[in-house]
Amino acid sequence: MSDIPQICDYEGSNYRTDFWEGHGRDYEDQVERSVLRRWLPPKGKRVLEIGAGFGRLTNEFKGFQQVVVLDYSFSQLQYAREHYGDAGFVYVAADAYNLPFQVGVFDAATMIRVIHHFANVPLVLQGIRRTLAPRAMFILEYANKRNLKAMLRYALRQQDWNPYTLDPVEFVKLNFDFHPQYIEQALNQNGFHTQKRVPVSYLRLGLLKKTLPTSVLVALDSVLQKTGLLYSPSIFTLNQTDNSGTDQTALDDIFACPKTGAPLVRVGNLMVNEQAGVRYEIRDGIYIFKDLD
Ligand SMILES: C[S@@+](CC[C@H](N)C(=O)[O-])C[C@H]1O[C@@H](n2cnc3c(N)ncnc32)[C@H](O)[C@@H]1O
Repeated sequence: MSDIPQICDYEGSNYRTDFWEGHGRDYEDQVERSVLRRWLPPKGKRVLEIGAGFGRLTNEFKGFQQVVVLDYSFSQLQYAREHYGDAGFVYVAADAYNLPFQVGVFDAATMIRVIHHFANVPLVLQGIRRTLAPRAMFILEYANKRNLKAMLRYALRQQDWNPYTLDPVEFVKLNFDFHPQYIEQALNQNGFHTQKRVPVSYLRLGLLKKTLPTSVLVALDSVLQKTGLLYSPSIFTLNQTDNSGTDQTALDDIFACPKTGAPLVRVGNLMVNEQAGVRYEIRDGIYIFKDLD
């Protein structure tokens, strides 16, 4: 456990009201949804939304029989649960580096606006791959270091770091931008085949957002997405797992101890494996695999 990297902890944060609501980000929100709507299948069995936060995008997964809404922050999940309820949704407070699931139980997963908080990308991708069935879908969004603004600032010598090198740049503690090639390699080396990559949010500029209606920005963005030119601040990737592993998407008991891998069963408000001597709490309808006060 000691070599698990640090977590960017949103516990108790006002992410929803400090960043989204009333902050002029309808354009970003809508273009992200438009990619999900295009790529997500109309129906599926079980999807894992990793780093779901307060559930901004969770209503996009309603085609799945079960949506597992995972975040490290218990308070973000409390808000999501109040909003969506329990029918078809399962809420899990856990660390994405240490996922509390059996192998191959999901036929899809997404990670949007989350991987930029991860210092060890291969480690988190490896864990996600484990939980996915063969030929499952994984939609990953990441912050692109080789974006137009960074390229311009670098050319004008207003920025020290080089947007063209493959190494991630940590511009603020636990906030990383990644080179498209770095992410593609990391995906590939951890059992994913990248099928599509689209540039998103090219028009994320205060002046444009003030002057043009959101619908126009969204329409322009969809044209820019088709260019495939990966110089935007955000990039969406559509990936499929390889053929290896076991398909356990029919399992009802999906949980496993994140430390030992022992399968867990529910006993009252606990998830337990008596033989392995492990137990985890379910509080306020949220499965908890982290230490809470
Ligand atoms: C920028 S928010 C994005 C939330 C949501 N995906 C969205 O787009 O609105 C990042 C989220 O990642 C979660 N997160 C960060 N590190 C995590 C980790 N190691 N395990 C699980 N969640 C994590 C945070 O708690 C936070 O809710």
